[in-house]
This record gives sequence, structure tokens and C-alpha cells, in this order.
Amino acid sequence: MANNADIKFNVDNLELFYGNFKALKGIDMEIKKNEITALIGPSGCGKSTFLKTLNRMNDLEDGVKVTGRIHLDGVDIYKEMDSITLRHRVGMVFQQPNPFPKSIYDNVAYGPRIHGIRKKSQLDEIVERSLRQAAIWDELKDRLNKSALGLSGGQQQRLCIARTLAVQPDLALELKKDYTIVIVTHNMQQASRISDKTAFFLLGELIEYGETTELFANPKNPKTEEYITGRFG
Ligand SMILES: Nc1ncnc2c1ncn2[C@@H]1O[C@H](COP(=O)(O)OP(=O)(O)OP(=O)(O)O)[C@@H](O)[C@H]1O
Ligand SMILES: [Mg+2]
Repeated sequence: MANNADIKFNVDNLELFYGNFKALKGIDMEIKKNEITALIGPSGCGKSTFLKTLNRMNDLEDGVKVTGRIHLDGVDIYKEMDSITLRHRVGMVFQQPNPFPKSIYDNVAYGPRIHGIRKKSQLDEIVERSLRQAAIWDELKDRLNKSALGLSGGQQQRLCIARTLAVQPDLALELKKDYTIVIVTHNMQQASRISDKTAFFLLGELIEYGETTELFANPKNPKTEEYITGRFG
């Protein structure tokens, strides 16, 4: 079944229950090697739940039950692999929600600088673009050199989104040469720009899954269309 060399994950009729609540309903998905897969869908539809099943982060919690199968390179991760080996092979990166005790500008420029970008004009451009994408540029453009710790909670959250956006898209494109990447995003521009495949979830079901360009240009399911046009529009 999952022995095809191009397939990294083969998910077969996966269901996950939190107590009596079925959070994932019969998910089937093949995730190809060296591709970026974006999980999209409204809040509460099961994106994080699904992502966590890929390295068994949720089934050890009380009251959580998983049925179905997930193969990683042809090996059943629930039956044939110990969790240490699994977690060495499948990493999870969560968005860091706290700003650094630095200026707003330096928070956003932090990642790009680590990746060797030094030119002021280039950093200025990344900072502005990222803050705009996080919908906080207008609020912050006149106080970029002030401490990020002086921002409200909601502003800090959006700053952290900007900080992730400043590196993540290009970093992900760089990483996929060596890794297979699954991301959760609410940002349709980001999903359509960097991912190869997109999976649209709704109320625990995988509604549509396919080539990103195809799914955005020509959604097959009206629910997909409604979601992506609503999120873009
Ligand atoms: N530990 C838990 N115990 C009980 N129910 C949970 C638990 N975690 C998530 N759920 C429920 O499972 C469903 C899916 O949640 P999940 O966190 O996967 O959604 P999501 O798509 O990641 O949402 P968001 O976009 O808001 O992050 C929701 O109805 C949520 O309330
Ligand atoms: Mg989530």
C-alpha cells in the first residue's frame, strides 16, 4: 500500500475521537516526499488535530482514540514504530507567540538576519511586507524602533505572525529540498504561494485535497470555493 517510494505519509481512513467527539472523520491522504502540503479550513475543523497525528502527539492523551492507519515510508507509525524514532523523523514546529525584548523592527528582521540578510534596504522591505501581511503595518510603521513589549496582546500576536512570515515562506521552500513539510495556515496567500498541495478541512472531514494551483483556481467542491473566496475576498 504505502511502499511507493514517492510517498512519505500514507493516511488511510484515519479517525480521531476526543472522548465521544469525533474530531477527524475518515481521512485519506497521500503526502508526497519533498512537497509542501498546506492544511486549511475554519477554526476548529481539525487541522492541528490532524497534524499532531503525524507524530502521535495526541493519542497518548487521556480519552483520545485513534483508528485507521498512518504509514511513514511504508511503516505503520501506530503499530510498527516507537515514538522516539517517530519523533526523530517527524518534527513539529509551533509558532512562538512571545515577542523578543527587542524593537518591533528587530523582531521581524531577526529571522532574515540569521539567514544572512544584512542589507538595510532589503531588511526594510521584508519588515514592511511581513507587517503588512500580518495586517499591522499601519498601526506600527511610526514606532518600529520602539520595544515590542510595549504592544497590546493582540498586536504582539500579529507581530509574531509577521516575524514568522518574514522567514517562513522562503525557509520552507529551502527546506523542502531535504524535507517533506506539512503546514497549517489561515493565510490563503501563503498557502497558494508556497505549497504544492492543499488540503481543505471542514468539521473534521477532508473536503478536498489536491494540487494547490488547481484547488485555488478550480475548486471541485462548492464548500472549498466558498471558503477560499471568502478568505481571499
Ligand atoms: N484536547 C482536546 N479535547 C477535546 N476536544 C478537542 C481537543 N483539541 C481539540 N478539540 C476539538 O477538536 C476540534 C478540532 O480542533 P483543532 O484544534 O484540530 O482545530 P483547528 O482546525 O486546528 O482550529 P484552529 O484553526 O482554531 O487552530 C475542535 O472542535 C476542538 O474543539
Ligand atoms: Mg489549530
